[in-house]
Amino acid sequence: MSHSQHPILILDFGSQYTQLIARRVREQNVFSVIHPYRISLKEIKSMKPAGIILSGGPSNVYAKGAPLVSPGLFELDIPVLGICYGMQLIGHLSEGGKVLKTEKREYGPAVLSIDDRGDLFKSLPKKINCWMSHGDHVSELPKGFVKLAHTGNSPIASLADREKRIYGIQFHAEVVHTPLGHVIIRNFVRGICGLKGNWTPRSFIQQAVENIRRQVGRERVVLGLSGGVDSSVTACLLHRAIGGRLTCIFIDNGLLRKNEAERVERVFRRHFKMKLRVVRAEKDFLDGLKGVASPEQKRKIIGRTFIDVFEREAHKLGKVKFLGQGTLYPDVIESVPVHGGPTATIKSHHNVGGLPKRMRMTLIEPLRMSFKDEVRKVGRELGMPEEMVNRQPFPGPGLAVRILGAVTKERCDLLREADWIVIDEIKKAKLYNKLWQSFAVLLPIKSVGVQGDERTYDNVAAIRAVNSTDGMTADWARLPEDVLARISNRIINEIRGINRVCYDISSKPPATIEWE
Ligand code: XMP
Repeated sequence: MSHSQHPILILDFGSQYTQLIARRVREQNVFSVIHPYRISLKEIKSMKPAGIILSGGPSNVYAKGAPLVSPGLFELDIPVLGICYGMQLIGHLSEGGKVLKTEKREYGPAVLSIDDRGDLFKSLPKKINCWMSHGDHVSELPKGFVKLAHTGNSPIASLADREKRIYGIQFHAEVVHTPLGHVIIRNFVRGICGLKGNWTPRSFIQQAVENIRRQVGRERVVLGLSGGVDSSVTACLLHRAIGGRLTCIFIDNGLLRKNEAERVERVFRRHFKMKLRVVRAEKDFLDGLKGVASPEQKRKIIGRTFIDVFEREAHKLGKVKFLGQGTLYPDVIESVPVHGGPTATIKSHHNVGGLPKRMRMTLIEPLRMSFKDEVRKVGRELGMPEEMVNRQPFPGPGLAVRILGAVTKERCDLLREADWIVIDEIKKAKLYNKLWQSFAVLLPIKSVGVQGDERTYDNVAAIRAVNSTDGMTADWARLPEDVLARISNRIINEIRGINRVCYDISSKPPATIEWE
Protein backbone atom coordinates (compact mmCIF):
# COMPACT_ATOMS: atom_id res chain seq x y z
CA MET A 1 0.00 0.00 0.00
CA SER A 2 1.69 3.21 -1.05
CA HIS A 3 1.04 6.28 1.03
CA SER A 4 3.02 8.78 -0.89
CA GLN A 5 4.13 9.28 -4.44
CA HIS A 6 7.62 10.15 -3.31
CA PRO A 7 8.82 8.53 -0.09
CA ILE A 8 12.18 8.82 1.57
CA LEU A 9 13.95 5.52 0.96
CA ILE A 10 16.15 4.25 3.78
CA LEU A 11 18.73 1.69 2.76
CA ASP A 12 19.61 -0.55 5.68
CA PHE A 13 23.20 -1.65 6.25
CA GLY A 14 22.42 -3.48 9.50
CA SER A 15 22.31 -0.55 11.94
CA GLN A 16 20.43 -1.00 15.18
CA TYR A 17 18.98 2.48 14.54
CA THR A 18 17.47 1.95 11.06
CA GLN A 19 13.86 1.91 12.28
CA LEU A 20 14.59 4.99 14.33
CA ILE A 21 15.69 6.83 11.17
CA ALA A 22 12.38 5.88 9.52
CA ARG A 23 10.43 7.17 12.50
CA ARG A 24 12.39 10.42 12.68
CA VAL A 25 11.61 11.08 9.01
CA ARG A 26 7.94 10.33 9.58
CA GLU A 27 7.88 12.69 12.56
CA GLN A 28 8.49 15.39 9.94
CA ASN A 29 5.22 14.28 8.29
CA VAL A 30 7.14 12.66 5.48
CA PHE A 31 6.53 9.03 4.55
CA SER A 32 9.55 6.68 4.62
CA VAL A 33 10.26 3.07 3.73
CA ILE A 34 13.10 0.74 4.69
CA HIS A 35 14.77 -1.70 2.31
CA PRO A 36 17.93 -3.81 2.53
CA TYR A 37 20.97 -2.16 0.93
CA ARG A 38 21.16 -4.81 -1.77
CA ILE A 39 18.04 -3.84 -3.75
CA SER A 40 18.83 -2.92 -7.35
CA LEU A 41 19.07 0.54 -8.84
CA LYS A 42 16.10 -0.39 -11.01
CA GLU A 43 13.96 -1.15 -7.97
CA ILE A 44 15.10 2.06 -6.34
CA LYS A 45 14.16 4.10 -9.38
CA SER A 46 10.74 2.46 -9.58
CA MET A 47 9.95 3.68 -6.06
CA LYS A 48 10.52 7.27 -7.18
CA PRO A 49 12.03 8.30 -3.84
CA ALA A 50 12.34 11.99 -3.10
CA GLY A 51 15.53 11.24 -1.17
CA ILE A 52 17.67 8.34 0.00
CA ILE A 53 19.19 7.83 3.45
CA LEU A 54 22.02 5.34 3.90
CA SER A 55 21.92 3.90 7.42
CA GLY A 56 24.81 3.14 9.71
CA GLY A 57 26.10 -0.38 10.08
CA PRO A 58 28.67 -2.55 11.84
CA SER A 59 30.93 -3.20 8.81
CA ASN A 60 34.09 -1.52 7.47
CA VAL A 61 33.67 -0.18 3.93
CA TYR A 62 37.13 -1.37 2.89
CA ALA A 63 36.69 -4.93 4.23
CA LYS A 64 36.22 -7.86 1.89
CA GLY A 65 32.52 -8.56 1.37
CA ALA A 66 31.43 -5.27 2.98
CA PRO A 67 27.86 -4.26 2.07
CA LEU A 68 28.13 -1.65 -0.69
CA VAL A 69 25.85 0.19 -3.08
CA SER A 70 26.38 0.74 -6.76
CA PRO A 71 28.18 4.08 -7.32
CA GLY A 72 25.36 4.67 -9.82
CA LEU A 73 23.22 5.49 -6.80
CA PHE A 74 24.96 8.86 -6.62
CA GLU A 75 24.16 9.62 -10.26
CA LEU A 76 20.37 9.29 -10.05
CA ASP A 77 19.85 12.98 -9.33
CA ILE A 78 18.15 12.02 -6.06
CA PRO A 79 19.43 13.64 -2.84
CA VAL A 80 21.37 11.27 -0.57
CA LEU A 81 22.18 11.50 3.15
CA GLY A 82 24.68 9.00 4.51
CA ILE A 83 24.71 8.45 8.27
CA CYS A 84 27.88 7.03 9.91
CA TYR A 85 28.66 3.92 7.80
CA GLY A 86 26.51 5.59 5.13
CA MET A 87 28.83 8.62 5.07
CA GLN A 88 31.86 6.34 4.89
CA LEU A 89 30.30 4.68 1.85
CA ILE A 90 30.06 8.06 0.18
CA GLY A 91 33.72 8.69 0.99
CA HIS A 92 34.76 5.23 -0.18
CA LEU A 93 32.80 5.17 -3.45
CA SER A 94 33.44 8.74 -4.61
CA GLU A 95 36.53 9.66 -6.57
CA GLY A 96 39.40 10.89 -4.42
CA GLY A 97 37.77 10.01 -1.07
CA LYS A 98 39.51 7.92 1.57
CA VAL A 99 38.28 6.02 4.63
CA LEU A 100 40.66 4.94 7.38
CA LYS A 101 40.50 3.24 10.73
CA THR A 102 40.25 5.84 13.52
CA GLU A 103 43.13 5.68 16.00
CA LYS A 104 40.80 5.74 18.93
CA ARG A 105 37.26 4.38 18.46
CA GLU A 106 34.88 7.30 19.10
CA TYR A 107 31.86 6.26 21.12
CA GLY A 108 29.46 8.47 23.04
CA PRO A 109 28.60 12.14 23.27
CA ALA A 110 30.65 14.71 21.35
CA VAL A 111 30.42 18.41 20.55
CA LEU A 112 29.90 19.10 16.87
CA SER A 113 31.30 22.37 15.54
CA ILE A 114 29.37 23.41 12.49
CA ASP A 115 31.48 25.12 9.82
CA ASP A 116 28.76 25.62 7.22
CA ARG A 117 25.14 26.28 8.09
CA GLY A 118 23.91 26.67 4.51
CA ASP A 119 21.41 23.85 4.17
CA LEU A 120 21.82 20.60 6.17
CA PHE A 121 22.66 22.52 9.35
CA LYS A 122 20.38 25.50 8.71
CA SER A 123 18.90 27.23 11.79
CA LEU A 124 21.23 25.41 14.19
CA PRO A 125 23.68 27.01 16.61
CA LYS A 126 27.41 26.88 15.81
CA LYS A 127 27.94 24.04 18.27
CA ILE A 128 25.56 21.17 19.06
CA ASN A 129 25.75 17.97 21.08
CA CYS A 130 25.82 14.82 19.01
CA TRP A 131 26.23 11.06 19.41
CA MET A 132 29.20 9.27 17.87
CA SER A 133 29.72 5.54 17.45
CA HIS A 134 32.39 4.65 14.91
CA GLY A 135 35.80 3.07 14.41
CA ASP A 136 36.41 4.40 10.86
CA HIS A 137 36.36 7.91 9.45
CA VAL A 138 36.56 9.73 6.14
CA SER A 139 40.15 11.00 6.13
CA GLU A 140 40.17 12.67 2.73
CA LEU A 141 37.33 14.53 1.04
CA PRO A 142 36.28 13.15 -2.33
CA LYS A 143 36.45 15.41 -5.38
CA GLY A 144 33.73 18.06 -5.44
CA PHE A 145 32.95 17.72 -1.70
CA VAL A 146 33.24 20.29 1.06
CA LYS A 147 33.44 19.81 4.81
CA LEU A 148 30.40 20.98 6.78
CA ALA A 149 31.34 20.17 10.39
CA HIS A 150 34.02 18.71 12.68
CA THR A 151 34.51 17.40 16.22
CA GLY A 152 37.64 17.16 18.37
CA ASN A 153 38.22 13.62 17.11
CA SER A 154 36.76 13.80 13.62
CA PRO A 155 38.17 16.55 11.38
CA ILE A 156 35.51 15.64 8.80
CA ALA A 157 32.30 14.96 10.72
CA SER A 158 30.05 16.01 7.85
CA LEU A 159 30.53 16.50 4.12
CA ALA A 160 28.55 17.54 1.06
CA ASP A 161 28.62 17.73 -2.71
CA ARG A 162 25.99 20.41 -3.17
CA GLU A 163 25.81 20.08 -6.90
CA LYS A 164 24.89 16.42 -6.72
CA ARG A 165 22.97 16.93 -3.45
CA ILE A 166 24.94 14.26 -1.59
CA TYR A 167 25.45 14.72 2.15
CA GLY A 168 27.09 12.73 4.91
CA ILE A 169 27.16 12.91 8.70
CA GLN A 170 29.48 10.82 10.85
CA PHE A 171 27.27 11.07 13.96
CA HIS A 172 23.79 9.68 14.58
CA ALA A 173 21.22 12.43 14.11
CA GLU A 174 18.41 9.92 14.70
CA VAL A 175 19.09 9.13 18.38
CA VAL A 176 17.88 11.19 21.34
CA HIS A 177 21.49 11.85 22.37
CA THR A 178 21.67 14.24 19.42
CA PRO A 179 18.95 16.50 20.84
CA LEU A 180 18.74 18.74 17.75
CA GLY A 181 19.01 15.82 15.33
CA HIS A 182 15.41 16.31 14.21
CA VAL A 183 16.38 19.70 12.74
CA ILE A 184 19.02 18.01 10.57
CA ILE A 185 16.52 15.36 9.43
CA ARG A 186 13.99 18.12 8.72
CA ASN A 187 16.54 20.15 6.77
CA PHE A 188 17.26 17.10 4.63
CA VAL A 189 13.74 15.85 3.91
CA ARG A 190 11.87 19.15 3.82
CA GLY A 191 14.66 21.44 2.64
CA ILE A 192 17.08 19.51 0.45
CA CYS A 193 14.56 16.92 -0.83
CA GLY A 194 11.86 19.59 -1.11
CA LEU A 195 9.04 17.58 0.47
CA LYS A 196 6.04 19.45 1.88
CA GLY A 197 5.44 17.39 4.99
CA ASN A 198 1.80 16.59 4.34
CA TRP A 199 1.85 12.96 5.45
CA THR A 200 -0.27 13.15 8.62
CA PRO A 201 -2.56 10.73 10.51
CA ARG A 202 -5.46 12.35 8.70
CA SER A 203 -3.96 11.93 5.23
CA PHE A 204 -2.91 8.40 6.15
CA ILE A 205 -6.51 7.54 7.04
CA GLN A 206 -7.83 9.05 3.81
CA GLN A 207 -5.36 7.09 1.74
CA ALA A 208 -5.89 3.85 3.71
CA VAL A 209 -9.67 4.11 3.33
CA GLU A 210 -9.31 4.62 -0.43
CA ASN A 211 -6.94 1.67 -0.72
CA ILE A 212 -9.20 -0.62 1.33
CA ARG A 213 -12.21 0.28 -0.81
CA ARG A 214 -10.24 -0.38 -3.96
CA GLN A 215 -8.91 -3.73 -2.70
CA VAL A 216 -12.15 -5.01 -1.20
CA GLY A 217 -14.60 -3.84 -3.85
CA ARG A 218 -18.03 -5.27 -2.97
CA GLU A 219 -16.59 -8.19 -0.99
CA ARG A 220 -16.67 -8.73 2.77
CA VAL A 221 -13.94 -8.75 5.44
CA VAL A 222 -13.70 -10.66 8.69
CA LEU A 223 -11.32 -9.58 11.45
CA GLY A 224 -10.16 -11.24 14.65
CA LEU A 225 -10.49 -8.50 17.25
CA SER A 226 -8.37 -8.90 20.39
CA GLY A 227 -9.09 -5.55 22.00
CA GLY A 228 -5.44 -4.56 21.66
CA VAL A 229 -4.39 -1.37 19.91
CA ASP A 230 -3.38 -2.91 16.58
CA SER A 231 -6.47 -5.00 15.87
CA SER A 232 -8.74 -2.26 17.23
CA VAL A 233 -7.32 0.44 14.95
CA THR A 234 -7.42 -1.99 12.01
CA ALA A 235 -11.11 -2.61 12.78
CA CYS A 236 -11.86 1.12 12.89
CA LEU A 237 -10.08 1.78 9.58
CA LEU A 238 -11.84 -1.10 7.85
CA HIS A 239 -15.17 -0.02 9.32
CA ARG A 240 -14.72 3.51 8.07
CA ALA A 241 -13.96 2.17 4.61
CA ILE A 242 -16.59 -0.55 4.19
CA GLY A 243 -18.99 -0.21 7.14
CA GLY A 244 -21.33 -3.18 7.47
CA ARG A 245 -19.30 -5.39 5.18
CA LEU A 246 -16.83 -5.82 8.03
CA THR A 247 -17.55 -8.42 10.71
CA CYS A 248 -15.34 -8.58 13.79
CA ILE A 249 -14.96 -11.77 15.76
CA PHE A 250 -13.91 -11.47 19.38
CA ILE A 251 -13.03 -14.71 21.10
CA ASP A 252 -13.48 -14.75 24.85
CA ASN A 253 -11.05 -17.54 25.67
CA GLY A 254 -11.54 -17.31 29.44
CA LEU A 255 -7.95 -16.10 29.76
CA LEU A 256 -8.80 -12.42 29.58
CA ARG A 257 -8.60 -9.81 32.29
CA LYS A 258 -11.51 -8.69 34.39
CA ASN A 259 -14.29 -6.93 32.41
CA GLU A 260 -12.32 -7.13 29.17
CA ALA A 261 -14.96 -8.80 27.01
CA GLU A 262 -17.65 -6.37 28.23
CA ARG A 263 -15.43 -3.40 27.43
CA VAL A 264 -14.80 -4.59 23.87
CA GLU A 265 -18.54 -5.07 23.31
CA ARG A 266 -19.28 -1.63 24.71
CA VAL A 267 -16.76 0.17 22.52
CA PHE A 268 -17.14 -1.69 19.25
CA ARG A 269 -20.78 -2.68 19.18
CA ARG A 270 -22.40 0.21 21.04
CA HIS A 271 -20.04 3.09 20.40
CA PHE A 272 -18.78 2.30 16.88
CA LYS A 273 -21.85 0.29 15.85
CA MET A 274 -19.79 -2.44 14.23
CA LYS A 275 -20.97 -5.94 13.44
CA LEU A 276 -19.34 -7.83 16.29
CA ARG A 277 -19.64 -11.50 17.17
CA VAL A 278 -18.49 -12.36 20.65
CA VAL A 279 -17.69 -16.05 20.96
CA ARG A 280 -17.71 -17.46 24.47
CA ALA A 281 -15.12 -20.18 24.13
CA GLU A 282 -13.76 -20.44 27.67
CA LYS A 283 -14.60 -24.13 27.78
CA ASP A 284 -12.74 -24.96 24.54
CA PHE A 285 -9.59 -23.33 25.86
CA LEU A 286 -9.70 -24.56 29.46
CA ASP A 287 -10.51 -28.11 28.37
CA GLY A 288 -7.55 -28.05 26.00
CA LEU A 289 -5.27 -26.71 28.72
CA LYS A 290 -6.33 -29.16 31.42
CA GLY A 291 -3.32 -30.49 33.32
CA VAL A 292 -0.79 -28.82 30.98
CA ALA A 293 2.08 -27.08 32.80
CA SER A 294 4.67 -26.65 30.04
CA PRO A 295 4.78 -23.04 28.78
CA GLU A 296 5.41 -24.01 25.16
CA GLN A 297 2.64 -26.62 25.23
CA LYS A 298 0.22 -24.06 26.60
CA ARG A 299 1.10 -21.59 23.86
CA LYS A 300 0.67 -24.18 21.13
CA ILE A 301 -2.68 -25.40 22.48
CA ILE A 302 -4.01 -21.85 22.73
CA GLY A 303 -2.81 -20.97 19.21
CA ARG A 304 -4.44 -24.08 17.77
CA THR A 305 -7.69 -23.64 19.66
CA PHE A 306 -7.87 -20.03 18.54
CA ILE A 307 -7.66 -21.05 14.89
CA ASP A 308 -10.28 -23.79 15.37
CA VAL A 309 -12.75 -21.50 17.10
CA PHE A 310 -12.18 -18.65 14.67
CA GLU A 311 -12.60 -20.90 11.67
CA ARG A 312 -15.79 -22.40 13.08
CA GLU A 313 -17.24 -18.96 13.67
CA ALA A 314 -16.14 -17.47 10.35
CA HIS A 315 -17.77 -20.36 8.50
CA LYS A 316 -21.11 -19.24 9.87
CA LEU A 317 -20.72 -16.01 7.91
CA GLY A 318 -20.74 -17.80 4.56
CA LYS A 319 -18.14 -16.97 1.96
CA VAL A 320 -15.90 -14.13 3.04
CA LYS A 321 -12.97 -13.25 0.81
CA PHE A 322 -10.77 -11.11 3.04
CA LEU A 323 -9.18 -11.52 6.44
CA GLY A 324 -8.19 -8.28 8.16
CA GLN A 325 -5.07 -8.32 10.31
CA GLY A 326 -3.28 -5.75 12.47
CA THR A 327 0.25 -6.48 11.22
CA LEU A 328 2.70 -3.61 11.86
CA TYR A 329 5.77 -2.46 9.93
CA PRO A 330 8.43 -3.90 12.29
CA ASP A 331 6.96 -7.37 11.57
CA VAL A 332 7.42 -7.05 7.83
CA ILE A 333 10.66 -5.11 7.41
CA GLU A 334 13.18 -7.39 5.80
CA SER A 335 16.06 -7.05 8.20
CA VAL A 336 19.70 -7.23 7.25
CA PRO A 337 21.20 -10.01 9.37
CA VAL A 338 24.37 -8.69 10.85
CA HIS A 339 25.91 -11.46 12.84
CA GLY A 340 24.21 -14.22 10.87
CA GLY A 341 22.63 -17.43 12.08
CA PRO A 342 19.09 -18.07 13.27
CA THR A 343 18.26 -17.20 16.83
CA ALA A 344 16.66 -19.80 19.09
CA THR A 345 12.91 -19.67 19.55
CA ILE A 346 12.48 -18.26 23.01
CA LYS A 347 8.69 -18.36 22.97
CA SER A 348 6.37 -19.33 20.16
CA HIS A 349 4.20 -16.26 19.90
CA HIS A 350 0.52 -16.59 19.55
CA ASN A 351 -0.69 -14.85 16.44
CA VAL A 352 -3.14 -15.59 13.67
CA GLY A 353 -0.43 -16.20 11.05
CA GLY A 354 -1.68 -19.70 10.24
CA LEU A 355 -5.23 -18.55 9.55
CA PRO A 356 -5.21 -17.09 6.04
CA LYS A 357 -3.52 -20.16 4.56
CA ARG A 358 -5.83 -22.61 6.20
CA MET A 359 -8.94 -20.61 5.40
CA ARG A 360 -7.79 -19.63 1.91
CA MET A 361 -8.43 -15.98 2.54
CA THR A 362 -6.71 -12.91 1.18
CA LEU A 363 -5.04 -10.79 3.82
CA ILE A 364 -5.82 -7.14 4.21
CA GLU A 365 -3.38 -5.31 6.47
CA PRO A 366 -3.90 -1.54 6.45
CA LEU A 367 -1.24 -0.96 9.15
CA ARG A 368 1.56 -2.98 7.60
CA MET A 369 3.54 0.19 6.89
CA SER A 370 2.96 1.74 10.33
CA PHE A 371 4.92 1.92 13.55
CA LYS A 372 3.18 1.53 16.90
CA ASP A 373 3.29 5.23 17.82
CA GLU A 374 1.71 6.07 14.45
CA VAL A 375 -1.03 3.49 15.03
CA ARG A 376 -1.88 5.26 18.27
CA LYS A 377 -2.10 8.63 16.50
CA VAL A 378 -4.33 7.14 13.81
CA GLY A 379 -6.52 5.60 16.53
CA ARG A 380 -6.95 8.99 18.20
CA GLU A 381 -7.78 10.64 14.88
CA LEU A 382 -10.43 7.95 14.32
CA GLY A 383 -12.04 8.87 17.62
CA MET A 384 -11.05 5.83 19.63
CA PRO A 385 -11.22 6.21 23.41
CA GLU A 386 -7.90 7.09 25.03
CA GLU A 387 -8.00 4.02 27.33
CA MET A 388 -7.98 1.85 24.22
CA VAL A 389 -5.33 3.77 22.31
CA ASN A 390 -2.97 3.72 25.29
CA ARG A 391 -3.61 0.17 26.37
CA GLN A 392 -0.54 -1.69 27.58
CA PRO A 393 0.34 -4.78 25.51
CA PHE A 394 -1.36 -8.01 26.56
CA PRO A 395 -0.07 -11.34 25.23
CA GLY A 396 -2.24 -13.46 22.94
CA PRO A 397 -2.18 -16.47 25.30
CA GLY A 398 -3.45 -14.15 28.03
CA LEU A 399 -3.48 -15.14 31.67
CA ALA A 400 -2.37 -18.69 30.77
CA VAL A 401 1.25 -17.51 30.57
CA ARG A 402 0.90 -15.66 33.88
CA ILE A 403 -0.42 -18.68 35.76
CA LEU A 404 2.62 -20.85 36.32
CA GLY A 405 1.77 -24.52 36.21
CA ALA A 406 -1.60 -25.88 35.17
CA VAL A 407 -4.39 -23.44 34.32
CA THR A 408 -7.80 -23.79 35.95
CA LYS A 409 -10.84 -21.55 36.06
CA GLU A 410 -10.28 -20.95 39.81
CA ARG A 411 -6.70 -19.83 39.24
CA CYS A 412 -7.81 -17.57 36.36
CA ASP A 413 -10.38 -15.94 38.63
CA LEU A 414 -7.82 -15.47 41.39
CA LEU A 415 -5.32 -13.88 39.04
CA ARG A 416 -7.99 -11.68 37.45
CA GLU A 417 -8.73 -10.14 40.84
CA ALA A 418 -5.06 -9.59 41.70
CA ASP A 419 -4.35 -8.14 38.26
CA TRP A 420 -7.30 -5.78 38.58
CA ILE A 421 -5.88 -4.37 41.81
CA VAL A 422 -2.41 -3.90 40.27
CA ILE A 423 -3.82 -1.97 37.30
CA ASP A 424 -6.20 0.02 39.49
CA GLU A 425 -3.44 1.21 41.81
CA ILE A 426 -1.04 1.88 38.92
CA LYS A 427 -3.70 4.01 37.24
CA LYS A 428 -4.49 5.86 40.46
CA ALA A 429 -0.79 6.67 40.82
CA LYS A 430 -0.87 7.99 37.22
CA LEU A 431 1.79 5.51 36.17
CA TYR A 432 -0.19 3.42 33.68
CA ASN A 433 0.87 5.35 30.57
CA LYS A 434 4.46 5.63 31.75
CA LEU A 435 4.97 1.87 32.06
CA TRP A 436 5.31 -0.56 29.17
CA GLN A 437 3.43 -3.20 31.15
CA SER A 438 2.24 -3.81 34.70
CA PHE A 439 0.45 -6.94 35.84
CA ALA A 440 0.24 -9.78 38.35
CA VAL A 441 1.52 -13.34 38.06
CA LEU A 442 0.22 -16.35 39.99
CA LEU A 443 2.95 -18.68 41.23
CA PRO A 444 2.59 -22.45 41.56
CA ILE A 445 3.60 -22.47 45.21
CA LYS A 446 1.91 -21.93 48.54
CA SER A 447 3.32 -20.23 51.56
CA VAL A 448 2.37 -19.96 55.22
CA GLY A 449 0.86 -16.80 56.60
CA VAL A 450 -1.10 -15.55 59.55
CA GLN A 451 -4.38 -13.67 59.30
CA GLY A 452 -6.02 -12.65 62.58
CA ASP A 453 -5.23 -15.62 64.79
CA GLU A 454 -5.45 -18.05 61.94
CA ARG A 455 -2.65 -19.81 60.16
CA THR A 456 -3.07 -19.65 56.36
CA TYR A 457 -1.48 -21.74 53.66
CA ASP A 458 -2.19 -19.93 50.41
CA ASN A 459 -1.01 -18.80 46.98
CA VAL A 460 1.79 -16.36 46.19
CA ALA A 461 1.41 -13.60 43.60
CA ALA A 462 4.20 -11.65 41.94
CA ILE A 463 3.90 -8.13 40.61
CA ARG A 464 5.64 -7.35 37.34
CA ALA A 465 6.12 -3.78 36.08
CA VAL A 466 8.60 -2.88 33.35
CA ASN A 467 9.83 0.01 31.27
CA SER A 468 10.59 -0.69 27.63
CA THR A 469 10.31 0.93 24.21
CA ASP A 470 9.62 -2.12 22.09
CA GLY A 471 9.40 -5.17 24.37
CA MET A 472 12.72 -6.48 23.07
CA THR A 473 14.61 -5.31 26.13
CA ALA A 474 13.10 -4.12 29.39
CA ASP A 475 14.09 -2.80 32.77
CA TRP A 476 12.09 -3.52 35.91
CA ALA A 477 10.29 -0.39 37.01
CA ARG A 478 11.34 1.32 40.24
CA LEU A 479 7.77 1.67 41.47
CA PRO A 480 7.32 4.00 44.44
CA GLU A 481 7.29 2.11 47.74
CA ASP A 482 3.88 3.41 48.72
CA VAL A 483 2.34 2.14 45.47
CA LEU A 484 3.86 -1.28 46.06
CA ALA A 485 2.62 -1.21 49.62
CA ARG A 486 -0.94 -0.38 48.59
CA ILE A 487 -0.99 -3.11 45.94
CA SER A 488 0.35 -5.70 48.36
CA ASN A 489 -2.07 -4.73 51.16
CA ARG A 490 -5.07 -4.77 48.90
CA ILE A 491 -4.24 -8.10 47.24
CA ILE A 492 -3.68 -9.84 50.56
CA ASN A 493 -6.69 -8.28 52.29
CA GLU A 494 -9.22 -8.27 49.47
CA ILE A 495 -8.49 -11.60 47.79
CA ARG A 496 -9.17 -14.82 49.60
CA GLY A 497 -6.52 -17.29 48.51
CA ILE A 498 -3.41 -15.11 48.23
CA ASN A 499 -1.36 -14.46 51.37
CA ARG A 500 1.96 -13.25 49.97
CA VAL A 501 3.05 -10.74 47.30
CA CYS A 502 6.53 -10.43 45.76
CA TYR A 503 7.97 -7.84 43.41
CA ASP A 504 9.85 -9.06 40.35
CA ILE A 505 13.17 -7.18 40.04
CA SER A 506 14.51 -8.87 36.92
CA SER A 507 15.29 -7.11 33.67
CA LYS A 508 15.15 -8.45 30.12
CA PRO A 509 17.55 -9.95 29.23
CA PRO A 510 18.26 -12.25 31.00
CA ALA A 511 14.65 -12.62 32.21
CA THR A 512 11.69 -12.10 29.87
CA ILE A 513 8.74 -9.79 30.51
CA GLU A 514 6.13 -12.54 30.80
CA TRP A 515 6.99 -15.38 33.16
CA GLU A 516 6.25 -18.04 30.58
P1 XMP B 1 8.55 -11.54 26.56
O1 XMP B 1 7.83 -12.29 27.63
O2 XMP B 1 9.00 -12.43 25.42
O3 XMP B 1 7.47 -10.56 25.93
O4 XMP B 1 9.66 -10.70 27.09
C1 XMP B 1 7.76 -9.47 25.09
C2 XMP B 1 6.45 -8.77 24.77
O5 XMP B 1 5.62 -9.61 23.96
C3 XMP B 1 4.39 -9.88 24.63
N1 XMP B 1 4.07 -11.27 24.36
C4 XMP B 1 3.18 -11.68 23.43
N2 XMP B 1 2.40 -10.98 22.60
N3 XMP B 1 1.54 -12.97 21.72
C5 XMP B 1 1.57 -11.64 21.75
O6 XMP B 1 0.82 -11.02 21.01
C6 XMP B 1 2.30 -13.75 22.52
O7 XMP B 1 2.26 -14.97 22.45
C7 XMP B 1 3.17 -13.06 23.43
N4 XMP B 1 4.06 -13.49 24.35
C8 XMP B 1 4.61 -12.36 24.92
C9 XMP B 1 4.64 -9.60 26.09
O8 XMP B 1 3.46 -9.27 26.78
C10 XMP B 1 5.63 -8.44 26.00
O9 XMP B 1 4.98 -7.23 25.75
